[in-house]
Amino acid sequence: MLKALEKYQPVDTDQIKVWYKAAPLEKFPKNGGACIKYKEKQIAVFNFTRTGQWYACQNLCPHKMEMVLSRGMIGEENMIPKVACPLHKNTFSLQTGENLNGSLEAIATYPVKVENGYVYVGFAE
Ligand code: FES
Repeated sequence: MLKALEKYQPVDTDQIKVWYKAAPLEKFPKNGGACIKYKEKQIAVFNFTRTGQWYACQNLCPHKMEMVLSRGMIGEENMIPKVACPLHKNTFSLQTGENLNGSLEAIATYPVKVENGYVYVGFAE
């Protein structure tokens, strides 16, 4: 695995050790993404206003190793929330990280919660 990708490991809800307080709710665009930083990581956080769901994943697109996923278009495919990379439109599930239209490496996804007007992202370290 490429070095830049190594720091992005998916976090399941039962692995959370830290709820990182990312930013107030209103900092996140409706039906879009924003990038936050945690330690050495850039994380894309998505606000699906239509469904009231939030998702987070690595900002790094594994196709050309660009930090761009937070600027991707979001949507749904067969009930799966997804993001399309703004550069070459590879799409990834925001639930599993799977590359939905190809065979790229899966991206890491992270739990998100909203509490008292703040958005938190869960990390394992
Ligand atoms: S860099 Fe993301 S699809 Fe090419």
